[in-house]
Amino acid sequence: MTEHVKVVIVEYDEIARTIARRISEIINERRRAGSRAVLGLATGSTPIGIYRELIRMHKEEKLDFSDVVTFNLDEYYPMDPESIHSYHRYMRENLFDFINIKPENIHVPRGDIARERVDAECAAYEAAIKNAGGIDLQLLGIGKTGHIGFNEPGSGMESRTRRIALDTVTRRDAAADFFGEDNVPQEAITMGVGTIMEAREIALVATGEHKSAIVLRAVEGEPDPDVAATYLQKHSHAVFYLDPAAAANLTRIQTPWVLGEVHWNREMEIRAVIWLSERTRKSVLKLDSLDYREHHLSSLLARYGSAGPLNGEVFNALISKIRGKSKLPSGKRVIVFSPHPDDDVISMGGMLNKIHQNKNDIVVAYQTSGNIAVFDHEVRRYVDFLRRFNRDFDLGDDKARGIVAKVEGFLDSKSVGEMDTDDVLIMKQSIREAEAVSGIETFGMDRSQARFLNLPFYQTGKVRKDPIGEEDIRITLKLIEEHQPDIVFVAGDLSDPHGTHRMCLEAIQAALALYKGEQPEMWLYRGAWQEWEIAEADVLVPLSEDELRCKTLAIFKHQSQKDRAPFPGQDDREFWQRVQERNRGTAKRVDQLGLPEYFAMEAYVVRKAGEPVEREIVPTSAIG
Ligand code: F6R
Repeated sequence: MTEHVKVVIVEYDEIARTIARRISEIINERRRAGSRAVLGLATGSTPIGIYRELIRMHKEEKLDFSDVVTFNLDEYYPMDPESIHSYHRYMRENLFDFINIKPENIHVPRGDIARERVDAECAAYEAAIKNAGGIDLQLLGIGKTGHIGFNEPGSGMESRTRRIALDTVTRRDAAADFFGEDNVPQEAITMGVGTIMEAREIALVATGEHKSAIVLRAVEGEPDPDVAATYLQKHSHAVFYLDPAAAANLTRIQTPWVLGEVHWNREMEIRAVIWLSERTRKSVLKLDSLDYREHHLSSLLARYGSAGPLNGEVFNALISKIRGKSKLPSGKRVIVFSPHPDDDVISMGGMLNKIHQNKNDIVVAYQTSGNIAVFDHEVRRYVDFLRRFNRDFDLGDDKARGIVAKVEGFLDSKSVGEMDTDDVLIMKQSIREAEAVSGIETFGMDRSQARFLNLPFYQTGKVRKDPIGEEDIRITLKLIEEHQPDIVFVAGDLSDPHGTHRMCLEAIQAALALYKGEQPEMWLYRGAWQEWEIAEADVLVPLSEDELRCKTLAIFKHQSQKDRAPFPGQDDREFWQRVQERNRGTAKRVDQLGLPEYFAMEAYVVRKAGEPVEREIVPTSAIG
């Protein structure tokens, strides 16, 4: 058994429903027993769906919170409770304002107290939890450092509520919310690991592929003070609720054959043989029976009798995935959906170039404006250009001069994290639109092929977005009806259920469900951060050195995202560097399997018309 804690793997909606249901059970059980439920709550992007479900249950099923007591895990320090970054505000905006909880029953650590009072406040917080009778159910997310609450690496099992310095990785992760890493507070106040471990039940939720590495460590690694979540293995009622993307690295998903019998299907066979080839550093066609037997793959070998036919099958299956220009679509109607104005060239620039040459009728639909990812100094540069333009051509246009002055005035007095004015947002949008056009022109495409959908869910001016609404779907559907595509390309990365890429996919799926015409084939590219595994990819597209250079040039056209993109995640490399490594890396892996050697490669997953997009979920009963 490689998993040291109970794990449930289901889609996020189901996680949200399950946990909300458990919370309502606890509330009612407690009430029947004459006491009141005490809930430990978390913030961040993960619990939002759970809070939405609780609000729904309150409205539609009369779930009553009038006697419920809550304690939140943490708060930044220092932090004004009214700030848009405050967890006090987050809790009001995501839950408390919509249910009948009493203000006096709500507890969130305070970030607005004097430094010398912090210790006393923390002790009082602990005392309040005890007085309330302890926490019945503690909800947790997990940070990329493995933190629970803000218990960063080094937090002891006995630690209690206290002030803590935030890890660099955590601060980088929060950079998007704070419009830049420099604005993220250095410290926070958090419940300790010891405090959390005293909760009678614990539900840790993790979603998205960006959590898969730390989830593996927390579930299968040894208890380790460097990863606070590993302590949960010692709790008798802790459950990890994972969506398939967050669970993807677990042994039962990655290499289930090392755990016991598996139900072999074609994809699993290919995965196993690729794994064996990489493990033994032998090409697929050179694998022998001993290799299979020594690596828990006897049952696979038995299906084919000997290594030769199995190797041959898998080799042929892999070869047939490789599709150069002549085997790619031609003469078709194509919509390339790009969540931000650069995903098209970053993730499928090689493909876009080839299908344009193949004379397909292509529209590139940029779904969001991407305007929050443009630095203010970029706007200043363009405003300065406008001023010079007016002067050099003697335009004498007062209106233009007025806008220039207004924008500069706002930027001069803008405070950290302040929302942009409409003028500035429009300029940021235009900067990205011009870059997107320039990007596709690199491939010889025409500017008329670019469509900017500006989906309203994104237009909050903030990092947090609204849910996908009717208007988003209507706009998307209108384009589909106009262009009647045979093929749509979409970003199929599964990071963060509330992330822009995932929401853009949701808008397309909803629009296609309403589309009365013939359903198009869907080609999924993976997004800027990761590539499809060779086993799961349906199509591998070879790129020559010149083609990769051309794709890199197209990425360069997105100048506002260069040098120090505001949200580079944990990766300090620029997009073009990541792309080159990713595309050359795929080609290298293909070569090492004993397939032809190419300079670089892109990978795609293809869903036939009407097929579901999501990957198959491994049932929880498969736990070894
Ligand atoms: C939030 C908290 C943190 C988050 C974790 C994951 O109150 O204590 O531990 O749960 O950082 O954050 P998200 O859910 O935004 O990925």
